[in-house]
Amino acid sequence: MRALVTGGAGFLGSSLVEHLLNLKDDVVVLDNFWRGQPENVEHILENITLLELDACKASSYDSIQDPSSIDVVYHLAAINGTKWFHEEARMVMDVNLNSTLRAIEFAEKYSCRFVFTSSPEAFGNSEEMPLGNLESSVFTHPSHHQRHAYGASKYLGELAVQHAVRQGLDGRIVRPFNGYGPRLSQDEYGQVVTMMMRSALDSNRVHVHGDGSQTRSLTWVDDVVQGIALSGRLDSCLKTGESLSGRSFNLGSTEEISMLDLGNIICRLVNEKTSFSVHIEMTEGYPGDSLRRLPHLVDAETSLGWSATTSLEEGLRHTLESML
Ligand SMILES: NC(=O)c1ccc[n+]([C@@H]2O[C@H](COP(=O)([O-])OP(=O)(O)OC[C@H]3O[C@@H](n4cnc5c(N)ncnc54)[C@H](O)[C@@H]3O)[C@@H](O)[C@H]2O)c1
Repeated sequence: MRALVTGGAGFLGSSLVEHLLNLKDDVVVLDNFWRGQPENVEHILENITLLELDACKASSYDSIQDPSSIDVVYHLAAINGTKWFHEEARMVMDVNLNSTLRAIEFAEKYSCRFVFTSSPEAFGNSEEMPLGNLESSVFTHPSHHQRHAYGASKYLGELAVQHAVRQGLDGRIVRPFNGYGPRLSQDEYGQVVTMMMRSALDSNRVHVHGDGSQTRSLTWVDDVVQGIALSGRLDSCLKTGESLSGRSFNLGSTEEISMLDLGNIICRLVNEKTSFSVHIEMTEGYPGDSLRRLPHLVDAETSLGWSATTSLEEGLRHTLESML
């Protein structure tokens, strides 16, 4: 197959590109390196076509050679990272919405299959757990905080995909649940696992937000990437043979863990690997953080034949190794 991966130099995108190359796909990467890193793709540069361009601009897609031969667009380009949601809410909305609309337009023009990387944050503060594929979204009043700039942009992205599906697009939606692994951003704008590890390695402290009781379903990067690739490569539902167009799939682990327990595991792993004495420090978190995020998985399991297989302990060990 020939695939276009927007955001293909980022954390999930670069691993997806490696996976697609292993499956012998021909891959075009479109990324402006806003957060993606050249070193994420430099080892595969000879095997891909890399376009350093803005996914929000229609003209960027004009640079793709032989566009009618693209079979599937995996749209991952977005602004991700909680600190950005609060500090740069309008930029998050601008990039996430406009890149999605432009990528959909490209897929429509060249009759490509389209896979949209949404997020469980598209459900806002929904308290339904496990989170089904068809729950309603719950967003707090915009004057309270700006966190939902991201979740609402993903909600609107899903709406745009469903609208395009009604007009004939073969569009599918995936929602990774806290993917983690090597290449996940480690700075203050990054995500929890590698931020905790980086802080443990640099300052002997692991910061846990609030009382640490909020839980997540952390999902190993290779598991997430397999689910994204399956949703783009399968022609139809494995069980029923029905179309996958308009369907959405949660991609998450069933191993639910509180942030305090995660912090304690990371302290233990870092202490085992180094001579450090790392300890937990409780800090104030961001407003609007969900208390729980657990995926309902029956659709991904039955339609894609997908489930996460890597244990948290194993995944955390691999991630830490990559940072030493
Ligand atoms: N990591 C997760 O656990 C997770 C969970 C849910 C959803 N997602 C979604 O998956 C996708 C990938 O996430 P990630 O964690 O790999 O983040 P990431 O920041 O590493 O990847 C996003 C990529 O998009 C690129 N990008 C940003 N703006 C762009 C633009 N205007 N034009 C072209 N490229 C642009 C960045 O440079 C980066 O390489 C995102 O859409 C994110 O919202 C990720």
